[in-house]
Parts: sequence; structure tokens; C-alpha cells
Amino acid sequence: VNQHSIGILDSGVGGLATLRAARRALPNESFIYIGDLARVPYGDKSSAAIREYAKRMVQFLLKHKVKALAVACNTISAVASSSVLGALNTPVFHVLEAGASAALRISRHGRIGVIATTATVREKGYERSILGMQPQASVLSVDCPLLVPLIEEGWQERPLTLQVVAEYLEPFQSNEVDTLVLGCTHYSFIRPAIRSVLGSHIEIADPAVALAEQLARAVKDGAIEPASRRDLPARLTFCVTDHIDRFQRVASRLCPSTDAKTLQVEL
Ligand code: DGL
Repeated sequence: VNQHSIGILDSGVGGLATLRAARRALPNESFIYIGDLARVPYGDKSSAAIREYAKRMVQFLLKHKVKALAVACNTISAVASSSVLGALNTPVFHVLEAGASAALRISRHGRIGVIATTATVREKGYERSILGMQPQASVLSVDCPLLVPLIEEGWQERPLTLQVVAEYLEPFQSNEVDTLVLGCTHYSFIRPAIRSVLGSHIEIADPAVALAEQLARAVKDGAIEPASRRDLPARLTFCVTDHIDRFQRVASRLCPSTDAKTLQVEL
């Protein structure tokens, strides 16, 4: 495994949205992506369990000497700070913070809606982050536990998914939010369905993309040490804790690459 990589961690395949955008923005950088397929989904687990699982992934990446960590999973970001994760001397970038600041940048009146997993909503992850940056803002969060399984089944375009989305988004229609945060990795993949239900008057903030942009800025301004000549060519390594085959199928669809290596690892 390349020693000068940026580590991206996620509960499963959702973080591939961040990886895809990050590779586009940083073609010289190498990445190690870890997805905890053995324990996914995190979104319906207790916060204590999620912290334990996430810490193991962080330790794994630190053992491989990553130069920065990107927490691509909103659920992990909502339950565990960088110090809880045990990353003390390595810069850590959280999807939730990137998403919260993106939402505030986009929002016209600071009336922000969030859709996320049950754990993220229970922990008030986005509320804390958004109100910490902008105390006058208002945040309404709704958990959407049925969406991750529908998306994992590839049901993005089915009428049933649209119906479920419409039901979940109902509170935002009457509460006059001006911006909706896709507070779970998977929701980027049903952005068209969400857009069609919301109409055009509500902006959409995508934390997965915001996190990739933050990584790109950090490499440019030196907060992450840029790849040097000896690190080239850039490499991509996938590490998963279960079922390589299924992961490779999904990864080749969501984040196509010809040079990736996939390893099954134990945490
Ligand atoms: N990656 C998770 C998130 O962003 C969604 C999948 C899960 O529940 O593990 O919240």
C-alpha cells in the first residue's frame, strides 16, 4: 500500500461519491479507501458501536501511514470527533463539517433542512455543526432509514423510491427551508429523485462533494502535503472487510478506475 496516500473511510460504498470527486480534483494523489462491509449499515446502530468500528478503521489507515484522513461517512462524523477516533497527529477532514459549511454558503436565509441516517439525526450532528458556525440559522433534520437499502438495491429510479422520498421530504415543503443537505453518503445517488420532489425553489447541498473540495483546497494550500514526484503514479487501493466481489461491482459503477487494487482486510 502506498505510503503517501490520503485515507478515506466509510461504512460501506457510499464514500465512493467523495472518492470519485476527490480523484478528479487531485489526479496526482494516491488514495486508500476503506469500507466496513462486514458491519454496514452504521446508520441504525448505537453510537458506542459506531465509535468502536470507526476507531478500528482509523487505526488501520494510520498503520498504513496515511498523510490525511477523510471521514466520508456522515454517521461516523456525527458520533465521533477526531480525538475520539484516535487521530492526533494526522489532519482529519469530516464530511459533516464540509457539508455544514457548504449548506451555509448556499443558503439564502439560513433555513436548512437535513436528511440523514437515524444515528446522525439522533446525535444532532448537523444541528451542532451548523449552529456552531451560524447561531441564527435554523435546522430541521429528518431521518430516512428506508433510503440506504433502496439505493443499495439499485432502485434509484423506481416509482416506489420516489414515493418514499416524497413522504420523507413532506416536512420540508411546509417548513419553508431554503436548502436541503444530503446528510448521508448514499443520497447523492438519488439526487434527481430528490430534486424532482423538492421542486426548484430549494437548493441542495452535497457534503460528499464538499468534502472532496475541501481535500483539494487542503492539498493546494499545504495543509495536506502534496504528492511529490516519487509518489507518482497515483495509486488507488480499496480495502474492504467483507465480500470483495460485490464491492468491486458497485465500485466499478460508482467510481470507475482501471488501476485500483482491492484487498479484503480484517480490523
Ligand atoms: N455512510 C452512511 C452515512 O453517510 C450511510 C450508510 C450507513 O448507514 O452505514 O451516513
